[in-house]
Amino acid sequence: MKCIDEVPDSELKGKRVLVRSDFNVPIGKGGEVADRYRIERGWKTLQYLRKRGAKVVIISHIGREREESLEPVARVLKEFGPVVFIADIVGPAARGAVSAMRKGDMLMLENLRRDLRETENDPSFAKELASFADIYVDDAFAAAHRAHASIVGVAKLLPSYAGLLVCDEVREIDAAREPEHPSFAILGGAKFETKAPLIKLLLEKYDNVFITGALANDVFKARGLPVGHSLISKELPSEDIHTSPRFLAPIDVTAEDKSGHAKVKKPEEVGDDERIVDAGPDTVAMLVPLIAQAKFILWNGPTGIYEEGYNHYTQQIAELAAGSKAKIVIGGGDTIAAIEATGVPKEKLGFLSTGGGAMLEYLLKGTLPGIEVLK
Ligand code: 3PG
Repeated sequence: MKCIDEVPDSELKGKRVLVRSDFNVPIGKGGEVADRYRIERGWKTLQYLRKRGAKVVIISHIGREREESLEPVARVLKEFGPVVFIADIVGPAARGAVSAMRKGDMLMLENLRRDLRETENDPSFAKELASFADIYVDDAFAAAHRAHASIVGVAKLLPSYAGLLVCDEVREIDAAREPEHPSFAILGGAKFETKAPLIKLLLEKYDNVFITGALANDVFKARGLPVGHSLISKELPSEDIHTSPRFLAPIDVTAEDKSGHAKVKKPEEVGDDERIVDAGPDTVAMLVPLIAQAKFILWNGPTGIYEEGYNHYTQQIAELAAGSKAKIVIGGGDTIAAIEATGVPKEKLGFLSTGGGAMLEYLLKGTLPGIEVLK
């Protein structure tokens, strides 16, 4: 895989460069971008190319419904630089706008998923997109686990490079796959069945693996403890996982009753009409020495249901991590949103991946379809 900054500037000047970004960001009720993190990170490559006199054509998807538009994203990009939005993908308006571009121009096309051929990886769609450019740059790390037309199809048709964001992500997550010791991994989220292979890998590579969030409920259930009506996965952790000497789960939890009152208790005390919504203070105290000693921390998944305000223990862990000397890699859309809600400055927390599913899959496999095609 070659990064775009390995290409001589002279080969970029005046060239049409198609950049596949991942600007799949949440849009608030007022139609505004609700979280700019992916746009801020993605701007680096766009600006790099513009400064070198390339004609930059930006493509991305947003949402899973075809109706969503990238226009709110373009409004944010316009605050960073002169990006023109074209409400078309490969039709006459897009073709006309691309052919009229001059050096340093930046143009953003409409949501790729409005064309069904994108997710089908239809070669005709890849060909139409490729006809807009001399060079292709994949900067969409968060979508690199999708074998879609704009990710793998176009890369086969043009000289292709990784964008600056993708290069950063690959370097940092590669480091997380071979962590410096002592190492500490925190994994939360839900759906144990999708995370089991990664947990097994982390148990091989990390000195301590702490399972939290809804995944911890599965651990309690597998250990025969009461879980009330907490969120539980289809599959529970097997004994070899939850009895591993490197495996840690919360030793106390925050449980909410029917009337919305939350109380810290031991896992064995969770009542039938309660649900587990966060970890507890003893759990954080158990983690203090592990975070303090760690040379490497990997963190994916908040400890609690932060969307409902259960962010207290995620905040405490973020504060401990921010004060540690460890190299830190954090990822997953939810984790970053939860951390942003804690107010702990992102700059103190090491590397924050833009990837959710892509990060987990890269951790597990060490590659992704969108990365493989660039090799
Ligand atoms: C993400 O947000 O994880 C990526 O943009 C991929 O989106 P998708 O899950 O809709 O393919």
